[in-house]
Amino acid sequence: MPEKIDRNLSLELVRVTEAAAMAAARLMGRGDKEAADGAAVQAMRIALSSVGMDGTVVIGEGEKDQAPMLYIGEKIGTGEPPKVDIAVDPIDGTRLLAGGLPNAISVVALAEEGSLYDSPGIFYMNKIAVGPAAKGKIDLNQSVEWNIKSVAQAKKMDINELTVVILERPRHEQLIREVREAGARIKLITDGDVAGSIMTALEGTGVDMLMGIGGSPEAVISACALKCIGGDMQCRLYPRDDAEKQNAAKMGADLNKLFTINDLAKGENIFVSLTGITNGELVDGVKYHENGLETHSLVMRSKSGTVRDVRARHRLDKLMAFSEIEFMRHHS
Ligand code: FBP
Repeated sequence: MPEKIDRNLSLELVRVTEAAAMAAARLMGRGDKEAADGAAVQAMRIALSSVGMDGTVVIGEGEKDQAPMLYIGEKIGTGEPPKVDIAVDPIDGTRLLAGGLPNAISVVALAEEGSLYDSPGIFYMNKIAVGPAAKGKIDLNQSVEWNIKSVAQAKKMDINELTVVILERPRHEQLIREVREAGARIKLITDGDVAGSIMTALEGTGVDMLMGIGGSPEAVISACALKCIGGDMQCRLYPRDDAEKQNAAKMGADLNKLFTINDLAKGENIFVSLTGITNGELVDGVKYHENGLETHSLVMRSKSGTVRDVRARHRLDKLMAFSEIEFMRHHS
């Protein structure tokens, strides 16, 4: 039996996403998503290494041979108990950040060892996500129209008031048509379905549902956050091509299986932190001042259900005096 997590690690985690967001934000709009991602990964790794935990990256930057840092299987943290699974997305929405577009965030989820779903080399999942008011009212085996009606009813809204977030991709033409036929409103996003999923669960975002095919790692991270807030999610693996289908068969993955939120993220010891890099519906982006910068984060814990809104002011001159992380603007 893995030991229980009795400490609230969320306030340690917020430092991690703040660091990644601060390191990446200086590259906003520069059109270089690799550089931004590199800066976020490096900062996140340094910050994670000082968290009091015996962590293993289960969702990371890729297999060890492709990713030098935060690779799947990498051990991270101080090494003291508890043993935890870590899922990282140093930037969700690298293209958003590279173009200075809304809703690029840095996000980390942490859970008891063995509790996060480890997708078997299949890049995408078909997803449906909702907030607390529609918990238990979604079913991926039913039609798009059925789900929209069910969520509208649960939220006591007219269908034409309901907003569905969908990634703008050619693969979603049919889905978009069906949502329109059902009569709901659509918010197309160019990237960032972790933020899109979490928006469904927070008041004031104007978003009620997320539907469509996006990254499998992003599905697990979204499920962690929705578990903390009390929302719901269902997914199914979506192989891109025959190679992925064969891979799934080899790994024994069931392409018909409907994943509930608990299949994606088990148990009640889950922590999530996210920090805004660019402004968005969930959080504000990093803002620079003469002598420092401001960050805005959400940190949450599933056991207590507490969601904290954390605004921080950081002094670059002081941080640079002792931190290994490159927060400073580069002068060239
Ligand atoms: P990155 O930030 O890693 O580029 O991912 C952005 C993202 O939009 C995710 O939020 C989403 O799940 C996935 O890419 C969708 O994949 P694709 O761009 O291949 O449709």
